[in-house]
Amino acid sequence: MAIIPISKNTTLNQSARLPGAVECKRFSTQVLKWFDKHGRKHLPWQQCPDAYSVWVSEIMLQQTQVATVIPYYEKFMARFPAVEDLAAADQDEVLRLWSGLGYYARGRNLHKAARLVCSEYSGRIPSAIDELVALPGVGRSTAGAIRSLAFGKVASILDGNVKRVLCRHFAVDGWYGQASVQQYLWRISDVLTPVKRTGPFNQAMMDLGATLCTRSSPRCDSCPLKKSCKALASGTPTQWPHKRIRAEKPLRKTLMLLLEDSEGHVKLERRPATGIWGGLWCFPQFEQMNDLLSYARKNGEFENAQVVSWSEFTHTFSHFQLVITPVHIRLNLNRVSSVQEIDSSVWVSEGATPGGLPAPVTRLLNTLRESLV
Ligand code: ADE
Repeated sequence: MAIIPISKNTTLNQSARLPGAVECKRFSTQVLKWFDKHGRKHLPWQQCPDAYSVWVSEIMLQQTQVATVIPYYEKFMARFPAVEDLAAADQDEVLRLWSGLGYYARGRNLHKAARLVCSEYSGRIPSAIDELVALPGVGRSTAGAIRSLAFGKVASILDGNVKRVLCRHFAVDGWYGQASVQQYLWRISDVLTPVKRTGPFNQAMMDLGATLCTRSSPRCDSCPLKKSCKALASGTPTQWPHKRIRAEKPLRKTLMLLLEDSEGHVKLERRPATGIWGGLWCFPQFEQMNDLLSYARKNGEFENAQVVSWSEFTHTFSHFQLVITPVHIRLNLNRVSSVQEIDSSVWVSEGATPGGLPAPVTRLLNTLRESLV
């Protein structure tokens, strides 16, 4: 077996070697054989895999499992069957269909990218990796997936599932988010990816990671790569991938104002385009109770209003935890109609939503509605 050393400037040690041609061939043959028998071939976006449907599905599948994605994908494609339909939509409608799927930047980027595809490529999604990665929300792995699955062209991928399979199979040490480890995994993925049947191979690698080589209880007995897997040979396969040693997520606190008028309308504001929940509709948020109360006073007839603080709860983001204290204020009379409504602030009636809502807002709206009946 040929051992090719990787460049000197990485910090990797014992794992820093690449599989040779014979090993690569064996690997891809076993993976493809497994795929033909067990791989997923009936997912909605696989039925007539044009570039647009593959692209939408790959964006939705980033950090999200297939079973969660399917209903969102189906609704999204029914409303936006072609890239032109998506490009012509307004952002609120796109985000409304994305509500609940999380990671809303994906929806905003997909929408922006659809407009770019229409203006720059006459509505034809490009197949070149450099053109794909230039689209908002498309990283190298997603570009490789689109190129191989939709166009049948050669490209490697490295999503979370594939990283796990490769870290285990080759016993790659170090946290895979670290740049040097990631570079090394890309080089492994590049050499393993076959020129023929690249799409099925890539799909197989994602399926292996999602269905057999799972995070905490891998089903090694059923794995087509069990004979050559270094992690399995070690006796403790879940030792890989190595975990990141990280500090506790910092806590941030917020007061969310559930301001309701005498007719059951509630006040929502659109968040700025960037930052958390960018472009989504949210209850007004405050750090200080005084600021919350003076906002409420400006927005309605406040005398004898009921002010009730609900129990706090925590919403976790990738980099911090947000401790939310909802404060429900029911105004005695109708809201002040003279308050100018700009397009980033609305009163909504029950069941109506102006656009996408973050999960905690949906949850609080539901609780509010239940408390009314
Ligand atoms: N995750 C990312 N892309 C995927 C795909 N095509 N199939 C299954 N899981 C995926």
